[in-house]
Amino acid sequence: MRMQKRPDPEEVRRTRDFYDWWAPFYDATNWLAARLRGASDFTERRKAVERLGLAPGMRVLEVSCGTGTNLPLLSEGVGQVGLVTGIDISARMLRRCRNKLRRKSDEASLLLGDAAKLPFADGSFDAVFHHGGIAEFPNKRAAIAEMARVARPGGKVVICDPGLPFDRPVRWINRQLLKLQPAYAAPPPVRHLPKTAQSVHVSWIRGDAWYLLEFVKA
Ligand SMILES: C[S@@+](CC[C@H](N)C(=O)[O-])C[C@H]1O[C@@H](n2cnc3c(N)ncnc32)[C@H](O)[C@@H]1O
Repeated sequence: MRMQKRPDPEEVRRTRDFYDWWAPFYDATNWLAARLRGASDFTERRKAVERLGLAPGMRVLEVSCGTGTNLPLLSEGVGQVGLVTGIDISARMLRRCRNKLRRKSDEASLLLGDAAKLPFADGSFDAVFHHGGIAEFPNKRAAIAEMARVARPGGKVVICDPGLPFDRPVRWINRQLLKLQPAYAAPPPVRHLPKTAQSVHVSWIRGDAWYLLEFVKA
């Protein structure tokens, strides 16, 4: 039997404090990192969101929505009759998210909470999205299990995070990123997927510097 790592409250607090600190510069550093890799942050986000196969009227959740850059793309996918929800553990990231949405006159329900204990009933969403952060979660398995649990049967789950493909040469810029951030060496978390994950597929985005792991909940 595989031992489950217990979420360490201290580790969760450290991650939250780190993102509270990063919140004011998060968007600028993200944009710069994408440019250095020769990729457009916006185009890459759109590519990832497209994998959710959103349609008008759907309910979509972004786990760890951060400053909310993906939320307008999710809203576009589900239209005015759909529902967009974002959850994040950092109050400062969420505050920036709220301000950004207000400027764009966009709407989403935002909640403060931990990805490993989502405050939603089973099957509450037609699609679940995670874009960045899971490498630092103290309990990836629990977070992925929660994403699957809150997706309805037949719903799509898309998880993206830094990672480098093993089947081709690593680009120079990605080797530098790997030195700065060891998280890039982690393989896509396929081994953490629950039994309900079907049609599992891994591809690479952001100039081969992020994996995109997608599955359908059985
Ligand atoms: C790299 S940012 C990604 C933000 C956003 N998804 C994006 O694409 O720009 C990672 C986010 O994960 C959040 N986070 C970290 N640990 C978390 C946890 N245990 N539960 C929920 N959110 C968490 C951080 O606060 C941060 O906003």
